[in-house]
Formats: sequence, C-alpha cells, structure tokens
Amino acid sequence: MSEKICVLGVAGGSASGKTTIINKLQDYFGEDIAVISHDAYYKAHPDMTLEERSHLNYDHPDSFESDRMAEDVRKLIKGYAIDMPVYDYVVHNRSEETVRIEPKTVIVMEGILILENKELRDLMDIKIFVDTDADERLMRRIKRDMIERGRSIESIIDQYSQTVKPMHEEFVEPSKKYADIIIPRGGENAAGLDMLITYMTKKLHAEL
Ligand code: CTP
Repeated sequence: MSEKICVLGVAGGSASGKTTIINKLQDYFGEDIAVISHDAYYKAHPDMTLEERSHLNYDHPDSFESDRMAEDVRKLIKGYAIDMPVYDYVVHNRSEETVRIEPKTVIVMEGILILENKELRDLMDIKIFVDTDADERLMRRIKRDMIERGRSIESIIDQYSQTVKPMHEEFVEPSKKYADIIIPRGGENAAGLDMLITYMTKKLHAEL
C-alpha cells in the first residue's frame, strides 16, 4: 500500500482546544507528524516598543505572514525541511531562534484563522474546525494567558473585548463554513477524534 502525504488544517477560536486535539494526533501518529502553527508567522515589529506591541490587533488576518507559512508548507509537501520562526507571546515578538521541521507524512497546519486564508486552505486535504462555546474559551484563555503568557486579568479582558471577540465574529466564525468536519467541545470529543484519525489513515493509505 503506498503512503501518501496528508495535510490537515486545525482551526477554531482562541483557546478552543486545538492543541489538545493535535496532542492526541501526535500520540497516535508519533514520529510521522509535523505541526506548523500560524502563530509562528505573526509579523515581527522590531521598531515598536513592548508597550506599542502589546496593543496591536493579533486576531486580524493581516497580522500574520501567511504567504511565508504557505511557502514553508509547500516545501514540506515537496519533501524539504524548513526553519520555522518561533513566536514569543510574553514580549509580543518573533524570537531570534527558528526551529527545524523535517518533512513528515502528516502535516498539521493550526491556528485561529487558517481557514480564512484561501492560499492556506488550498494546501489542506482535510479541514477541521474545533467549535467550543465562547464562555469556555474565555475562561481557558484567562487561565492560560495569566500562567503561560505573562498577562494581567485586566489586559486579558480588555484585549478580549476590543479585538479577540470582534475579530472572532468577523473572521473566525464565518470561516467555519470551509471545514470538512466540525468538532464540538474540542479534544475531549472521543468520537470526533476517532472519525478524524480513521479518515486521515485512509488518506495516507491512498484509499480515498
Ligand atoms: N495573541 C496574543 N498576543 C500576541 C499574539 C497573539 O494575545 N502577541 C493571541 C491572539 O489574540 C489570538 C491568540 O493569541 O487570539 C491565538 O492563540 P490561540 O489560538 O488562543 O492559542 P492555541 O494554544 O493555539 O489555542 P488552543 O487552546 O485552541 O489550542
């Protein structure tokens, strides 16, 4: 049976549970999976101060270098390794480092807005949207941003109401229509995950 490449897109609102699903796919596919995050391609702002960067809109499609991500995914599909940028949420900037990603048979593209962008979307064999209620996503985001991203509760709530929520409604939620599979409640949805893995395995074994 010939092995093909399967490119999966994992979209969904902020803190919807994309990472949990991807961790479970990594448990299943092991060494055969490469994960490319849209967040790694946030535009760098070397001339701005930390204060200025902390007030930017990070939920608008224009805040990413999506063409560079598309180029990197095309290289992986052709069998070449890439040097993926690394993003540091604590200082709101791209770090000096890059991380080498080797080509794999399963390539996962993830991010809140990857289905909104046609160039990215066209690279995917399967598109999923993790659909989690806004109140749950906000609760998770508060915990995560305080613990992992060095934010205060005030800054999280201000950012949520000024950019995260309006951009979600304008760009993220409407992109759900491009998904092949909508997975409610995220990573704890065992049936959704099982169906996804079955479909991906068929794709890899050229049965579809
Ligand atoms: N973001 C931020 N500050 C930055 C850059 C990005 O607060 N300097 C936020 C954006 O507001 C955006 C979010 O990061 O809403 C995107 O990350 P998210 O999708 O929440 O993270 P994941 O861990 O991928 O989500 P999940 O919980 O679904 O795994």
